[in-house]
Amino acid sequence: MKRRHRVAHRYPKPKRRRLRLRRRTVLKKTQVVARAAPAAPPPAPKEVPPPAPAPSREKGSGKRQILLCPGPVVTSQHVRSALLQPDMCHREPEFANLLQNVRAKLLHVLGLDGRYIPVILTGSGTAALEAAVMASVEPGKKLLVINNGVYGSRIAQAARIHEIPLVEIRSPLTERPDLNRVVAAMKREPKIGTVAMVHHETSTGLLNPVAEVGALTKQYKKKFLVDAISSLGAERLDLVKSNVTFCVGSSGKCFHGLPGLSFVLVAQSEVPSVMKARPRSLYLDLGKHLKAQESGEPPFTPAVPLVIAFHAALDELLREGLKSRMEKYQERAKFLREGFHKMGLSPLLDEKIMSNSLTSLLMPKGLSYQQLHHLLKRHGFVIYAGQSELRGRIFRVAHMGQLLQADLKEFLRVLKESLERASAS
Ligand SMILES: Cc1ncc(COP(=O)(O)O)c(C=O)c1O
Repeated sequence: MKRRHRVAHRYPKPKRRRLRLRRRTVLKKTQVVARAAPAAPPPAPKEVPPPAPAPSREKGSGKRQILLCPGPVVTSQHVRSALLQPDMCHREPEFANLLQNVRAKLLHVLGLDGRYIPVILTGSGTAALEAAVMASVEPGKKLLVINNGVYGSRIAQAARIHEIPLVEIRSPLTERPDLNRVVAAMKREPKIGTVAMVHHETSTGLLNPVAEVGALTKQYKKKFLVDAISSLGAERLDLVKSNVTFCVGSSGKCFHGLPGLSFVLVAQSEVPSVMKARPRSLYLDLGKHLKAQESGEPPFTPAVPLVIAFHAALDELLREGLKSRMEKYQERAKFLREGFHKMGLSPLLDEKIMSNSLTSLLMPKGLSYQQLHHLLKRHGFVIYAGQSELRGRIFRVAHMGQLLQADLKEFLRVLKESLERASAS
């Protein structure tokens, strides 16, 4: 009504008529279109049939596979059953207790009581890594990244995205970094405030010299960020002696928890500056999470079931003991590598720099990664491909998770059979 009134006063009579007519035609057209439009709901998306489950390696289950990839890993029934616990609200005291227990047990199992503060984040390892990168470099300072693999590159990538000034030392994927270059960079660039590196470069299986670089960061008074996502819980790593300020880990690898939860261990001395740092992200603000977790309430909705599962996995590790878990990983690595050697498979790396939780092997001649992967998966074993420039040239066998000796023996048998079958065809 109002609009018609306004139009009536603004235009002379003939124009008003023309306008009325035009409005009527437009209205008519819309009605025609509306009537002609099909009322039927859009077609349902086509269902893609799930791939046939690989044969089980566990009685009573049709789906369980032996994951020989570096996360997700094979988990125990105890850990998986955490997902079937009653629902829990993260704003209730029961969740606050659970979170405090997880944080306390994580520190305790690593022998870090009173030295570090854990911050648990919902998100895969990269979430905690990105949060740590943002929190570790003060405004006006630079980040030195020691990069010899895909995950070293990831640290640099996170810095670039957040426009954190970066100095990068790259070395070949199969070599440990040259420490002289690290020293030279720190001398040349006084603005370097933080040094970052990966402990276990999962793209190859190489263990980097954290203790040695840590000694240099202490000497040159730098903060030290270590990505220990695929090593913490299985490899020797003394965070205190190595002067580590930020250590990033994940629930779903050597801790044998489920994927989707990660954490940052912040050195006590660093806590005040993390708490008062200006956030570079809303969600991945380490200071905000730290403050909130100290007071028992997470700022956002966490993946509650994954926290329950991580708690179960930490209980298992506490019962087993860190030392015993590390020895188990060492034995597995030795056993599998002897088996690979007998089959004539060549490792990518020199044995002296290999981790205990993953082995990279050169692809045998005449066999593609896809063929090998397929042959093994038919028997319930899932291996992992090479990344970046190693794609198609290597395959990776991770020996993390709740694996049994019988699983490893069977894997070697099936691998040998697959290689023989491939070379005969
Ligand atoms: C050393 C390392 N850093 C970072 C990541 C990234 O973790 P996510 O894939 O859980 O985000 C991985 C994953 O395998 C890793 O091994």
